[in-house]
Amino acid sequence: MTLRKSLVAALAALTPFVATSAIAASVTVGFSQIGSESGWRAAETSVSKSEAQKRNITLKIADAQQKQENQIKAIRSFVAQGVDAIFLAPVVATGWDAVLNEAKDAKIPVILLDRDIETANKSLYLTAVTSDSVHEGVVAGEWLAKNVGSKPCNVVELQGTVGASVATNRKKGFDEAIAKHSNIKMIRSQTGDFTRAKGKEVTESFLKAENGGKNICALYAHNDDMAVGAIQAIKEAGLKPGKDILVVSIDAVPDIFKAFMSGEANATVELTPNMAGPAFDALIAFKEKGTVPPKWIQTDSKLYTPTDDPQKIYDSKKGLGY
Ligand code: AHR
Repeated sequence: MTLRKSLVAALAALTPFVATSAIAASVTVGFSQIGSESGWRAAETSVSKSEAQKRNITLKIADAQQKQENQIKAIRSFVAQGVDAIFLAPVVATGWDAVLNEAKDAKIPVILLDRDIETANKSLYLTAVTSDSVHEGVVAGEWLAKNVGSKPCNVVELQGTVGASVATNRKKGFDEAIAKHSNIKMIRSQTGDFTRAKGKEVTESFLKAENGGKNICALYAHNDDMAVGAIQAIKEAGLKPGKDILVVSIDAVPDIFKAFMSGEANATVELTPNMAGPAFDALIAFKEKGTVPPKWIQTDSKLYTPTDDPQKIYDSKKGLGY
């Protein structure tokens, strides 16, 4: 199969059937995307474009380069352009009320993608398409507890972007899960900002501070990209990731399945990059029939380990834009 054919097949598999309509064809959506900090984010951008295309929706994407102020500017620009709806992947959880009130005054529905916001006024957005990110942390923590059994285990944590709902929640869920096991102790926790480079840099400092890594039993990363950076740091420190230090993370990007195949990572919790598909469907039903979607459209969180045929999963994901 050519690269192009496998990309088309992989994207088609994400949404087997998509209803198009005259309304969808006349809809323009402005998407304020965070940036391209991770493989998952790149895939979300790419899948959003193809989901828009399938429905004949015009999608305008503004890349905020991880800055909330750029997202606020982009939303104001979408309002000025009179788009039919705004999708927002909010880099941090707070500070959105003023600009979302401007969108509301202009009668432009806003849909949150992949992260939540903190607001007392839920009418500022139509719906949020996200995973249960507390649950993702719980799944990762329970996997670790099951795998270390009663052995003492010191854990280090790479957090996502400070103030992002998913970073707060993934920490909360994991902490809750390991709190039930007195042999598991979180000894260091720091942000790696969801990037490979920072994941590596912070892990290097953890290893130095913890007897070259000998005091560390497991590393929990809030995303796979930071885990991949950490794996590199662990190898450079002369230890075996996946064995000397267990590695558990979140996203299920193709590179983590490669790491499964080489025995260097142990578990990941999947986050689908297809947040836009359900958001477009909710938007069209709202515009066509006035159907008000639930406030939360929850996506699945599935645990993968090296026993799940990593080569097959790698092949099925590699064409999705990660
Ligand atoms: O909000 C989703 C998170 O953002 C992904 O898990 C991470 O990779 C991304 O940067």
